[in-house]
Amino acid sequence: HDRPSGRWGEAQVQSVTAPGQANIQAEAARRRTFAVISHPDAGKSTITEALALHARVIGQAGAVHGKGGRRGVVSDWMAMEQTRGISITSAALQFAYRDVVVNLLDTPGHADFSEDTYRVLTAVDCAVMLLDAAKGLEPQTLKLFEVCRHRRIPVVTFINKWDRPGLEPLALLDEIETRIGLRPTPLTWPIGLAGQFHGVVDRRTGTAIHFERAPGGATAATEQELTTDEAARRFGEDWQRAVEELELLDLSDADHDQATFTAATTTPVLFGAAVANLGVRQLLDTLVELAPAPGPRPDVAGEPRPVAAPFAGFVFKIQANMDPAHRDQVAFVRVCSGRFERGAQVTNGATGRPFATKYAQQLFGRERDTADYAYPGDVVGLVNATALGIGDTLYSDRPVEFPPLPSFAPEHFATIQTSDTSKFKRFRRGVAQLDAEGIVQVLRSEARGDAAPVLAAVGPMQFEVATHRLAAEFGVPTTVDHLPYQYVRRTDPAGQEALSRVRGIEVLTRVRDGALLALFPNRWRLDMIARENPTVRLDPLLADA
Ligand code: G4P
Repeated sequence: HDRPSGRWGEAQVQSVTAPGQANIQAEAARRRTFAVISHPDAGKSTITEALALHARVIGQAGAVHGKGGRRGVVSDWMAMEQTRGISITSAALQFAYRDVVVNLLDTPGHADFSEDTYRVLTAVDCAVMLLDAAKGLEPQTLKLFEVCRHRRIPVVTFINKWDRPGLEPLALLDEIETRIGLRPTPLTWPIGLAGQFHGVVDRRTGTAIHFERAPGGATAATEQELTTDEAARRFGEDWQRAVEELELLDLSDADHDQATFTAATTTPVLFGAAVANLGVRQLLDTLVELAPAPGPRPDVAGEPRPVAAPFAGFVFKIQANMDPAHRDQVAFVRVCSGRFERGAQVTNGATGRPFATKYAQQLFGRERDTADYAYPGDVVGLVNATALGIGDTLYSDRPVEFPPLPSFAPEHFATIQTSDTSKFKRFRRGVAQLDAEGIVQVLRSEARGDAAPVLAAVGPMQFEVATHRLAAEFGVPTTVDHLPYQYVRRTDPAGQEALSRVRGIEVLTRVRDGALLALFPNRWRLDMIARENPTVRLDPLLADA
């Protein structure tokens, strides 16, 4: 599918200050770097378009990726056979809004849901939790939220599809509070139940805003401020209900509080309909006004590194062979401090080796725009980055190392082996490479031996990527046999010993970090074994919702 992308690039070039006048602190302060966490079909693609439209980067919402393009993720995967790419989406979109540079990082969520999706959240300063008004919290949203909670990432909630019948607004707030323990503090309140969306009340100013739907949603909706009398006259009962609900909210400690929001214990809530561009401006304004700018990032010793310190960043995503025309590997780096300059020599903290950034690019769809400067919060793609691994720190001056990226709970398990024994060495090298890139986690056990390691993945498609890449890049034919496990818990040597006698489960060592992982076929068996072995350590892994 076609994702015209040049325009994004233009905006980004304009947003960057010339080197002489650069004030890193000020540039960092006007960055907002966030990702959308949602379940497939909640409207992530739609809201991405809508946000971009408001940022006036593009004229028509459809220009980013039209209706066909939205379904493109699956077909990308079909095309994987030909292109050897993993999902061909943009890793980050950058646009200017008001005086702010917004970086929106993609969280792949359909067939390409993988550990990468979680890792993106290590590179953002804020998340937008996008809920379908008719569905509320859904499984993938919950998993992604767990990562946000773990990292204490502030979350703004956008309740989408208010133009369609859905749950009651107070019930949605209740669900957020009771299921994930985040206290909702609505910034806007809908006039009209889901399906009868007239507009919103801005709770901070008390203003009623009437939305006039633009046909097709391809342009920003018209907003009209109404007096309360006018709103009462026009919307009758719907207005009355909104007024009553607002009174209830006023009485229930549901006002926005910046300190608790940035501490990630409360979440500002907005209502809208991305498809018709309703409420999207309010979301963008909220991000600009309330979301935190990049701040000091703690290094591996826990020492916060100020944003104005010399350049440092870390690799949060690696994508191999994104583009068949460029046979290479791209490492996506989140800038944490200083100014990144293309061409500058930086050091790879993991190896101590220099890394030339001549081929620094920011990637947008399939087109590549060359990035000359990037500031804290920005994302840079480094091409020819075969020497870089997930979590590696890059720095320009004095050595700094950021903490390693966490591993996440895999849900799919399979053994992989090659029938061609003459290629065993290559097979091992290839598997190690896939592990280093974070495509799969590699698990081993004495019982299973070296010839058939177990691969563990967050998304099922990762196994296909693995076999595909082993064949294409290492020339090794492999077969994958799925294992009947779904749940994983971390244990210790004593637990390994105790569990070795239990049938139907297995304890393996994760090669990446030596962690001992116990695999269970289902939740029921896991709970039973946990009950029967109360002293055995069985810790959930991150994002295990
Ligand atoms: P995703 O990226 O989160 O998977 O979701 P996407 O934006 O592709 O949206 C999923 C479906 O929900 C799309 O419909 C989209 O048009 C619809 N949608 C998104 N936001 C809203 C909204 O505010 N209101 C309503 N009513 N629908 C919304 P589709 O039928 O799958 O595709 P299409 O026929 O619209 O192309």
